[in-house]
Amino acid sequence: MSKPEDSKSGAANPLWGGRFAEGPSEIMERINASVSFDRRLAGQDIAGSKAHADMLAACGIISDADNAAIQKGLDTIADEIAAGEFVFDPALEDVHMNVETRLKALIGEPAGRLHTGRSRNDQVATDMRLWLRDTMDAVEDGLRDLQAALIGQAETHAATVMPGFTHLQPAQPVTFGHHMLAYVEMFGRDRGRIADARARLNESPLGSAALAGTSFPIDRAMTARALGFDRPTANSMDGVADRDFALEFLGAATIIAVHLSRIAEELVIWTSPHFGYVRLPDGLTTGSSIMPQKRNADAAELVRGKSGRVLGALVALATMLKGLPMTYGKDMQEDKEPVFDAAESLMLALPATTAMIAGLTVDTAALHRATAAGFLTATDLADWLVRTLGMPFRDAHHVTGRIVKLAEDKDVTLDALSLSEMQGVEPRIDEGVMAVLSVEASVASRTSLGGTAPANVAAAAAEARRRFLS
Ligand code: ARG
Repeated sequence: MSKPEDSKSGAANPLWGGRFAEGPSEIMERINASVSFDRRLAGQDIAGSKAHADMLAACGIISDADNAAIQKGLDTIADEIAAGEFVFDPALEDVHMNVETRLKALIGEPAGRLHTGRSRNDQVATDMRLWLRDTMDAVEDGLRDLQAALIGQAETHAATVMPGFTHLQPAQPVTFGHHMLAYVEMFGRDRGRIADARARLNESPLGSAALAGTSFPIDRAMTARALGFDRPTANSMDGVADRDFALEFLGAATIIAVHLSRIAEELVIWTSPHFGYVRLPDGLTTGSSIMPQKRNADAAELVRGKSGRVLGALVALATMLKGLPMTYGKDMQEDKEPVFDAAESLMLALPATTAMIAGLTVDTAALHRATAAGFLTATDLADWLVRTLGMPFRDAHHVTGRIVKLAEDKDVTLDALSLSEMQGVEPRIDEGVMAVLSVEASVASRTSLGGTAPANVAAAAAEARRRFLS
């Protein structure tokens, strides 16, 4: 193996140095090298090379003996990497050249035959697709786990009443379970987006070679099959030039991160003593070195914070690709760090959120107390006026507004007003109204499809279990 100093001292690259009198300058080497981050593609790179070599032998392009040596050498390299013994050399630029150079050191001449009918351009596109495919599967599993935690809380709290908000102003009573199930739907669509992207990603660019395909009689369907792809990509230029599969992942990842960040923000709000709706387990909370009373929802804040990195990765990749002429450009080496960083952020944020949702304790009494603020059943009163007295909704809205003002002046909830007080505003109101003014009556009445009535929520939780977890 050549050492970093070799090139700095002027030796040409052993893999493509044929027409180069000297090696790269120090800054060229530094800006060019990607091995510090693409080394995590080593497993995919070796799998791709093994499939490629098998195919070359099956097609009679290399001998079975050469293939056997290549397979053995690649297995040895995989073992060396697993054992942490493999030395990645930045002078060898990237993971592909590191693996190939090591293969040459291990098996000699047959190593040079592996790169027949392929290029690093189709190689790296293949590696990235393989890596992302595994990542997408992990993200999907993570989303499923999160849905399971949310559904579990929804089942426990199908009938737990809490204030529902619009504009973060108390709006109408809902149940905590209903609130949880809203997120189950969001993460269900996120799973769908990941699955869609995965299906489009799952084509093999291997054998596109540099850009034009190859004159060797290769069998691209064979390598595609061996690597678990559904089929080879149809166009060799597209195969090496596009990274839309990574963009799609980052797009889906960004939407997931946005959803996670909203639920995280709610956890921050709900755990503040001013709300006190839920308590996170000690293991998911941090204290303060100076303020002994503190229980900070740091994990939720970090989930919220990491969403910015995921969106940043999407913007970075889209900007990098925009305006790139066909086909491959070295700019595309910059696809990796954003993708890896976004995936890493997501694979922390997802299980952290799952742990918080699964571990939180709902303070049902505090939630109920909170429903006393904000005249949450005002809409129920207006609806009663429409239904019972035949008032146009706009008039009912006006009458209700005056009754709310009365309650506000007396500093009581709507169901604490006396009938005669309400009749002072609208004489036709009778005692029947009392049945709709409690928060329990309010939620119980919301039986429309997708509504918050506890019976609906319990049924919806069971249905969600069937739709998403079976
Ligand atoms: N390290 C490169 C990348 O990640 C591999 C492909 C290099 N191709 C080339 N023509 N220089 O994009």
